[in-house]
Amino acid sequence: MEIKITDKIKYIGVDDTDLDLFEGQYIIPNGISYNSYLILDEKVAIMDTVDGRKGQAWWENLERELAGRTPDYLVVQHMEPDHASLIAEAVAKFPAMQVVATAKALDMMPHFFEGISLEGRTMAVKEGDTLPLGHHTLQFFMAPMVHWPEVMVTYEQSEKIVFAADGFGKFGALAHEEDWACEARRYYFNICGKYGAPVQALLKKLATLDVKCICPLHGPILKENLGYYIGLYDTWSKYEVETEGVFVAYASIHGGTAVVARKMAEILQAKGAPKVSIADLCRDDMAEAVEDAFRMGKLLVAAPSYDGDLFPPMHDFLHHLKLKTFQKRRVGIIENGSWAPTAGRVMKGMLSEMKEIEIVEPMITIRSRMKQSDLASMEALADALLAE
Ligand code: FEO
Repeated sequence: MEIKITDKIKYIGVDDTDLDLFEGQYIIPNGISYNSYLILDEKVAIMDTVDGRKGQAWWENLERELAGRTPDYLVVQHMEPDHASLIAEAVAKFPAMQVVATAKALDMMPHFFEGISLEGRTMAVKEGDTLPLGHHTLQFFMAPMVHWPEVMVTYEQSEKIVFAADGFGKFGALAHEEDWACEARRYYFNICGKYGAPVQALLKKLATLDVKCICPLHGPILKENLGYYIGLYDTWSKYEVETEGVFVAYASIHGGTAVVARKMAEILQAKGAPKVSIADLCRDDMAEAVEDAFRMGKLLVAAPSYDGDLFPPMHDFLHHLKLKTFQKRRVGIIENGSWAPTAGRVMKGMLSEMKEIEIVEPMITIRSRMKQSDLASMEALADALLAE
C-alpha cells in the first residue's frame, strides 16, 4: 500500500496489526500505524522512527526511499517507544547524522538506550527555531504534554505540512479504512485526555500557520477539510459536549443493576434524550466507556455496593475519569445494595473530586432488585438529568 504525501516527502511508517494491547492497555481491533516520514532535499531528514516491533519493515521502507542517500538529520518529536525505539540503531547506522530534538528529549535518550553516545551529534531546538534542508525548511514548535513533556511538532514551511506528533492520531492501521472520528476520539481521550490545556496551546500555535496537511504519528495523513479535525480537537480539549444526550455506564454483579440501567436508558429515551448510549463496564471496552463519558452531555452511573465500598469495575471507570480530568458534566447516581448500601457514597465522593461536576438529585438506592416502587424516583432522576 503506497501512501503518497508529496514528491519530496515520503511515508516510511508501518502498520501493526498483531499487537494485543497498545500501550499495554488499549485493544486495537483494527491495529495501529506508527507513522514516520522522510524529507528528501539537499539535506535529508527522517521524521521520527517507529516501534521496535516493526523495525525490519521500517528499515526496508527507509532504505527504499533513501535510494542510496544518507540521512543528515533524525528529527525526534516524541520519545515514547512507539516512535523512538529505533533511534539507537539509526544513530549507529548513520554516523554523520545529527539528532534534532528538544533538550528534554535529548535528556531522555540515555534512559531508553544505555550507553548511547550522542556527543557532538545533537541539535537541541527551541520554540520557533528553523532548520533549512534546501528548498524545505523545518520550523519547530514546542508541544509539552501532547502527550509527554519533551514533545514538539514541526512545520515544514514550503509545503505547509505539520508533523503533529501524537496530535490528530488515531487507532487503526492505515490499511484499514474507517471513519476517522470514532477511533481518533477513543485515542484522544484515553491518551491525551488529561492534557486539554496543552492541546489548546498547540491549537493556538497551529492557528497562526497556513496548514495544508497534517502528518500525525498514528493514523491517516489529513489533507482535506482540516477545519473538521481541528474543530473536533478544539471541542475535545475544551471538555465541551460533542453529542447531546446521556451515557449510562453500569456495572452489575448478578444482573440486578443491569436491569435498572437498561430501564433508565428506556426512560431517558422516552423522555426525549437526544441520544442514549449504554455500557456494561464489566464487559465492554473501558477505553470506549471513557470516550463516551467525555463525548456525551450527561452521565448516569449505576453500580452495586461491594465489600463496604464500590463494585471494582465502576471504581476503575471513575478512577479513569479522574485521571483524564473528566469535568463540566451533570451526573446521576444509582446505587444497589442488599444489606448496607455503600456504592452511592463512594461514587459521590469520587465524582466530587472532579472539576465542575454537578451531582443530580435524587440519588437512587435500589435494594437488590428494581421494583415498581422504584419507578417514580427513576422518572424523577431522568427528568432532573435532562433538565437544563
Ligand atoms: Fe504515540 Fe505518545 O506515543
